[in-house]
Amino acid sequence: MKKILLSIWAVSLFFSCSTQESVIYLDEMDLSYMETGWGEVNASLSAEGNPLTVAGKVYERGVGTHAISTLLLDLKGKAVTFHSFVGIDDESGEKASVEFFVLADGWILWHSGLMHYGDPARQVKLDVSGVRKLGLYVSDGGDGIGWDHADWLDTQIGYHKVRPEPVRSFIAEPNVLTPPPPDMPRINGPEVYGARPGSRFLYKIPVTGKRPVRFSGEGMPEGLVLDGQNGIISGACSLRGTYPVTIEATNEHGSVKKVLQIIIGDTICLTPPMGWNSWNCWGLSVDQQKVQAAADAMISSGLADHGWTTINIDDGWEAASRTPSGELLSNDKFPNMKALGDYVHSQGLKLGIYSSPGTHTCGGFLGSWEHEAQDARTWAGWGIDYLKYDWCSYERIAADHSLAELQKPYLKMQNALSELPGDIIFSLCQYGMGDVWTWGAMVGGNLWRTTGDINDTWNSMAGIGFSQDTCSAYAGPGHWNDPDMLVVGKVGWGPSLHPSRLTPDEQYTHISLWCLLSAPLLIGCDLNSLDAFTLNLLTNDEVIAIDQDPLGRQATRIKEESGRQVWAKPLKDGSLAVGLFNTGDPSPAGMFDWTGGQHTETVSVTWEELGITGPKKARDLWRQKDLGTFDREMKFPVNHHGVMLIRLSGSTN
Ligand code: GLA
Repeated sequence: MKKILLSIWAVSLFFSCSTQESVIYLDEMDLSYMETGWGEVNASLSAEGNPLTVAGKVYERGVGTHAISTLLLDLKGKAVTFHSFVGIDDESGEKASVEFFVLADGWILWHSGLMHYGDPARQVKLDVSGVRKLGLYVSDGGDGIGWDHADWLDTQIGYHKVRPEPVRSFIAEPNVLTPPPPDMPRINGPEVYGARPGSRFLYKIPVTGKRPVRFSGEGMPEGLVLDGQNGIISGACSLRGTYPVTIEATNEHGSVKKVLQIIIGDTICLTPPMGWNSWNCWGLSVDQQKVQAAADAMISSGLADHGWTTINIDDGWEAASRTPSGELLSNDKFPNMKALGDYVHSQGLKLGIYSSPGTHTCGGFLGSWEHEAQDARTWAGWGIDYLKYDWCSYERIAADHSLAELQKPYLKMQNALSELPGDIIFSLCQYGMGDVWTWGAMVGGNLWRTTGDINDTWNSMAGIGFSQDTCSAYAGPGHWNDPDMLVVGKVGWGPSLHPSRLTPDEQYTHISLWCLLSAPLLIGCDLNSLDAFTLNLLTNDEVIAIDQDPLGRQATRIKEESGRQVWAKPLKDGSLAVGLFNTGDPSPAGMFDWTGGQHTETVSVTWEELGITGPKKARDLWRQKDLGTFDREMKFPVNHHGVMLIRLSGSTN
């Protein structure tokens, strides 16, 4: 009898243990794989970091996001319940509208219907027994993502034994495509380089191949000298003109020649700037040592051999007050700016700096308000070659957003820069206000940001990149649209860093699209922790050549079909760079990878669509391989969120 009672007790204990449900809240999970269309994903706070509040009701727990937002949870078939409220946060504006979806293994399990600002939160109570993958998706409600601050509230999952965990929305196998450069020297970089008459000239010839490499040049204009050991051209040339200089690079494997057109005239920045900027990795924690380390890594990683030349200090270098005579100083983190400038130049690289026309920068440091000419002189004294000038607190000074007000601070700084003896590339940063691309060149801009800040998510990068069609007519030699810095490699906005949350295919899309757009290429990651995959993204000379093509035309969108886009950019030699993009199935289920397999789509384009005729040779630029000749159209399978970047040349070129 005792035995029977014991076994009944054991069976019931087993039964109660195996059915005992644990609960995990969404805000307790690692949310780094959650995508958000703007700002940060915040546990128990809204997208702007406020208490989660919907229709006047405050929720202690939940996750604040911004449309378009996705999160895939691996439930492993062990969860039983999903309970939540959803709603638009009160911090957003009246235009906000979103739709919340809960998807299970590829099917829509629940959706909220269209929700608007002020709607009370809606409740979701679902049985998720047996579900393996659960997708949480917030759409933009069909009217763009503006104002769409969307909250998952009191969100909890009941499960047995195995905790649900967030996973990447899509599989991510890093796959190196760029072939290593040959041992023979290869001269990379643009075919043209501009400087103003009499300005300090500095150009490091980008060359790959086995070291040591020796350099020589024929046809060098008066005043410029080429250092045969390190390939740096320096000096100053005061005579205007176009000078075709034949550069020769030689090593133990052979020798190559390339003609570089040195153009001494009024226009600088003849091809989009290429370099590094401290913001996307170090944020305000940047310091002199980190900048110097970036310059060193630019050389030691070999990036400079592919044309990456500028080292830009973003916000966070400025002292808290000016000297009695109004001079702007660097703060303690930058003990000696002049020495830093000299050091960077000694490597053949350029140094950039950051300021604001307002009283303060976006990071709260001193801006150049009412000290424009004085600051420009200070920077010139440090050897600065590039200025990013960021609107920030000028918002409080500007009377309104009329064109005259938007242009005023930039004209003022441009006047100050034009008084300096040297060339300073002028980068406007005001997030695209007043369609800056239509007038940025008129206020002296060599480049201008066209949008708000980028982050390392597909929604941000693709949202910015694929929206650049509107401004493509305005890019050209000396003046470029700037869709913001690159988010490949280790980023984090300082001080801690994480690997870019873009999948490898998304990173190929990012670099290919920026090159097609003739965008300034500013690496945003830590150059001292570059992995092989990131280096492969940044050292493909055939891809970079698309960005640096001397014609300077920006790609336009040729066509857009559901989940596919084709962009094309005409090149100087008559060939055409074409990007075939798989931007993904835009349906709610297409937001996630349910099977763990690679989702390819066939992307095609006809010659009629491209406006070309006759047989064309196609070259796959990432793999640097010829694909054969095509007569009237081409089509290729393209990975999810990935790209095929192709150069189409006539049979004669
Ligand atoms: C703004 C700019 C960024 C960066 C920061 C610095 O947000 O858009 O690129 O320069 O300011 O504070």
